[in-house]
Amino acid sequence: MSSNKNLHKAKKNQNDEHYTRITDIEKELKWYKDHFKGKAVYCNCDDPEKSDFWKHFEMDFDFYGLDRLVATTYEEDKPAYKLELIRGEDGIEKVKTPLKGNGDFRSDECIEILKGADVVVTNPPFSLFREYISQLIEYGKEFLVIGTLNVRTCKEIFKLIKDNKIWVGETYPKEFVQPDGSIKKFGNVGWYTNLPTPKRYEELPLGRVYKGNEDKYPKYDNYDAINVDKVVDIPMDYTMEKVVTKTELENLKRQGYIVEIIEEIYD
Ligand SMILES: C[S@@+](CC[C@H](N)C(=O)[O-])C[C@H]1O[C@@H](n2cnc3c(N)ncnc32)[C@H](O)[C@@H]1O
Repeated sequence: MSSNKNLHKAKKNQNDEHYTRITDIEKELKWYKDHFKGKAVYCNCDDPEKSDFWKHFEMDFDFYGLDRLVATTYEEDKPAYKLELIRGEDGIEKVKTPLKGNGDFRSDECIEILKGADVVVTNPPFSLFREYISQLIEYGKEFLVIGTLNVRTCKEIFKLIKDNKIWVGETYPKEFVQPDGSIKKFGNVGWYTNLPTPKRYEELPLGRVYKGNEDKYPKYDNYDAINVDKVVDIPMDYTMEKVVTKTELENLKRQGYIVEIIEEIYD
């Protein structure tokens, strides 16, 4: 991490300026309501005056049993600030502190705030999504954030999905509010998270078989996998044979692969 992150000149990409509606936040958050007790939530792309993420957690601070709520603004031409709700002995205190820089989520001071948080919940700029997720993974944070579904096929995000480090949430917001109050519609937006979601534990009934139907499942030239177009066509009996080291074997098991050892080779 370079130390000159504070020097990023704040430049808002107008395509990133659309705000999440509180109804969409509530629809998704209801699946995680027991997850936030005693935790510090950080909304790091959120102006508390405009953000319904801030509004939602401020309103339901006690319902969630939060310990702390923090938001940082991102500003082009005026000082950015941090707003906190802190549970103290005398109740809940609201504290506003100016930031030194522009509130870029990559800046050293925002990274310091991130380090002190447990869960990040927001809708980050879509144009910086890969960088944004990499940072959350790097600092080992829990998160629930909005992003476009297209990013699933980009190399970095695909790897995180494959390695079970991130998955999609429960709902798909369709409408966002633009700065002039108009609605921007999206058909390809969802939530990405590493929090436990009910869908993740639902059994997927599989009815297709691979053996004898190999021609229906072409293999990729550049990746050790078969192509399946629809979830309903995932075969129940597809296996691959692989020579792996002991560490790789442990990793595969940790990722949830069902492993059968055919032969142990020692050198
Ligand atoms: C898609 S909007 C969502 C805003 C808010 N989280 C919400 O959902 O209502 C993304 C926000 O991130 C802010 N942003 C853009 N670049 C940023 C950066 N480098 N660091 C922090 N915030 C940034 C934008 O100004 C924008 O308001």
